[in-house]
Amino acid sequence: MRKEFLDLGKQPIANRFLIEDEFDDEFFFDLKVVFDEKTKLVSLKEFVAPEMMFNENYTYHSSTSYPMKEHFRKTAELLTTRYKPSNVMEIGSNDGIFIRHFNPDNTFAVEPCGNFAKLTNDMGYKTYDKFWNIDLAKLIKQNHGTMDLIYAANCICHVHDLDDTFKAVRDLLSKDGIFVFEDPSLLRMMERGSYDQLYDEHAHIFSVTALDNILRKNNLIIFRVDNLSVHGGSNRIYARHASIPTDLIPDESVRNNLSQEKDFGLDRFETYQVFAERVDKSKNDLVSMLKSLKLEGKKIISYGATSKSTTVFNYCGIDNSLIDYITDTTEDKQGKYSPGTHIPIVSPEEGFDESVDMAYLGAWNFKDVIMNKETEFTKRGGKFITHVPQVMMFS
Ligand code: TYD
Repeated sequence: MRKEFLDLGKQPIANRFLIEDEFDDEFFFDLKVVFDEKTKLVSLKEFVAPEMMFNENYTYHSSTSYPMKEHFRKTAELLTTRYKPSNVMEIGSNDGIFIRHFNPDNTFAVEPCGNFAKLTNDMGYKTYDKFWNIDLAKLIKQNHGTMDLIYAANCICHVHDLDDTFKAVRDLLSKDGIFVFEDPSLLRMMERGSYDQLYDEHAHIFSVTALDNILRKNNLIIFRVDNLSVHGGSNRIYARHASIPTDLIPDESVRNNLSQEKDFGLDRFETYQVFAERVDKSKNDLVSMLKSLKLEGKKIISYGATSKSTTVFNYCGIDNSLIDYITDTTEDKQGKYSPGTHIPIVSPEEGFDESVDMAYLGAWNFKDVIMNKETEFTKRGGKFITHVPQVMMFS
């Protein structure tokens, strides 16, 4: 049974940055969050149609971020060295940030955003411009055979029907093949109060506990979990066919993650009710901090136009009256407006100047990178604001 514990109000498409002409027709949905007592899965109550989010206008380019480029280079190296797959397939290959480290002759990709599928097809990687499902898995198996490594990053949590997704993976995975996928961690979100991991694209925020239940149901088994720092704390899950004897027995990392999650109470609804109270407090604290700074005449901007900040701004009702504008290094976002609350976005060169007193960290997941880069700002008395793990100002 699915029980609702959080209501983040009306929310727009988090990654759809707009021009003025698009304001009137903007799509909104009710962002409510539920906990499934049976599988322990945390999901959005109402899913947004995938075509509305993932299409040829999708602007999230993984490769614009240097830390993420490094992350995927190292991941590719690690998986190649450790498992020596003879062929590889990625679900949700974006701009090729991961597959570029493999040989195009035996590397395949699935990417429903047409602009990105074209890019990686042009790079020589056979890319299926489709949503991942059982029919597509059958087609790929027919064309290229089974796969030794199926990889997905920040993608499986987008999928509405996890049973269908995992069945499709199982069908395409070779006998000793491994399925590796990474997504934001529910435990980290709950520990950090980072409720802004919840937005349209993230249909689910995964615990290892829930994945263990759902993968087993679909005859796949987790044999290893890596805890990663990317995207504000993610888990990399390694799974294989449950029925096939191999030496890849569930290792200590699986047991540790499951017991940490149990200790935190991720299997109990009450834990989520406490989290909801914390989220409500976070909203009140952030809005009162911004309002009192404004009364003192401070100029506050937001650093990084993220999907996460879409959730925060819309939930807290933060608009142009509190945040003057947002700076972001992504060219596609510059000159546009934030979803829902319509705060203008400019380049850092244009907007991150001497006049800025405070910068709310929309990209709090890159806090260390940003702090190292912006020493001039903090030296002259500039302050950063964040809501993670609680609302605070720092320099
Ligand atoms: P990301 O972490 O992908 O957030 P989300 O998944 O919530 O959309 O986005 C980071 C954004 O921050 C991206 O648009 C680039 C921007 N950014 C800057 O503008 N300056 C920086 O120094 C960094 C690190 C990121």
